[in-house]
Amino acid sequence: MNFKDIIAKKRDGMELSREELEFFADSAGRGSVPDYQLSALLMAIYLNGLNDRETLDLTNAMVRSGDVADLSGIDGIKGDKHSTGGVGDKTTLIVAPVVSCCGVRIAKMSGRGLGHTGGTVDKLESIPGFNSSLSSEEFIRAVNKCGICVTGQSGNLCPADKKLYALRDVTATVGNSSLIASSIMSKKLAGGADCIVLDVKCGSGAFMHDIAFARELAEKMVGIGKGAGKKIAALITDMDVPLGKNIGNSLEVIEAVETLKGNGPEDLRQVALHLAAKLLQLAGKGSLEECLALAQSKIDDGSALEKLADMVAVQGGDSRYIYDTSLFEKAKYSFSIKAKKSGFITSMETEEIGSVCVILGAGRQKKEDSIDHSAGIVLEKKTGDYVEKGDVIAVLHYSDETLSAPAAEKFLGAVTIKDEKPEKRPLILGTVE
Ligand code: URA
Repeated sequence: MNFKDIIAKKRDGMELSREELEFFADSAGRGSVPDYQLSALLMAIYLNGLNDRETLDLTNAMVRSGDVADLSGIDGIKGDKHSTGGVGDKTTLIVAPVVSCCGVRIAKMSGRGLGHTGGTVDKLESIPGFNSSLSSEEFIRAVNKCGICVTGQSGNLCPADKKLYALRDVTATVGNSSLIASSIMSKKLAGGADCIVLDVKCGSGAFMHDIAFARELAEKMVGIGKGAGKKIAALITDMDVPLGKNIGNSLEVIEAVETLKGNGPEDLRQVALHLAAKLLQLAGKGSLEECLALAQSKIDDGSALEKLADMVAVQGGDSRYIYDTSLFEKAKYSFSIKAKKSGFITSMETEEIGSVCVILGAGRQKKEDSIDHSAGIVLEKKTGDYVEKGDVIAVLHYSDETLSAPAAEKFLGAVTIKDEKPEKRPLILGTVE
């Protein structure tokens, strides 16, 4: 098969066969075709799209490019959750222990942050000793021991996606629903869970800025999952403003812990509870209302907090940090950003705010960059709030003195203050089942 002919076919708007998509994924996984040809085909797909059959074939081919996790050594129903990426999104740290307390095994592989979005592995690694590089055997042993394990992507899972995602990131070809759906679903199918809840983020901090695009993506992913025999649903949730108040790795662990203690911000509590309840419903634990109540009860009785601490301990981390978050190392400096005028905050450009966190050292521009786990932002005000001139909108935390000026300037540029109160956006914008 000639790769140039496949590029030309998609460039001219034609449909690719299963064999051609398999050749594409296989070549990407093995590195047998140069990056410039892979990138050219990605751009042709980005511009001309893939139909449902092509998207499914590409997903399956990416799964086959590597290993599939064998979770047969874990008893019971296995659940998984995936977010398409956002700012301040620490829901996994709440959903996973809550659901695990209800008897659904959580065997989850998570990613690191890249660009303006955070990653669960980076957050957990802010806990001293926490090991997110478990072998398959250690992963299964951990789930069997305490019912939950969140680790980094191990072994040779979806090497085609690894390659293509890195190329998409630098060739402006991330934002295509078929490419995003096949990328996420290949990893979820290779991850081996029985039930999957997807959190499709929508708004200025998400890849999907509008609801039509978010719904299209959610429908594609749910269709692929169902085709593979999974119990799967997607919630479309708001990412037009950061979720919760804390952004940055240890700051987000602290906020997740507060939420598990019943003291977290309401938006975070609501989104996490709805995701947990949907996953419990998929696992056959009752109606959505019953599952919402069940999930809340695991926060109220303290068992979900204990479960998170158990998971941290089993993965080598110091679980005292979960019970006493004052142990987390603090950033050296902090800087309060004040409102330049009075009025309502009508918008927060959330991707820009995520980028401020990267400037502060909490995220990475390139994969190999190291991060400062204590850096980040605590929002004192959010979209919809009224501020007087001089009120503190946010506090920046950082350990390199030179960072505050560019970060503060970028933050202020991302916040709009006007006289009229903005309309409130719902937190859950839709469900696809
Ligand atoms: N997350 C992924 O894993 N893949 C994408 O394409 C986008 C978000």
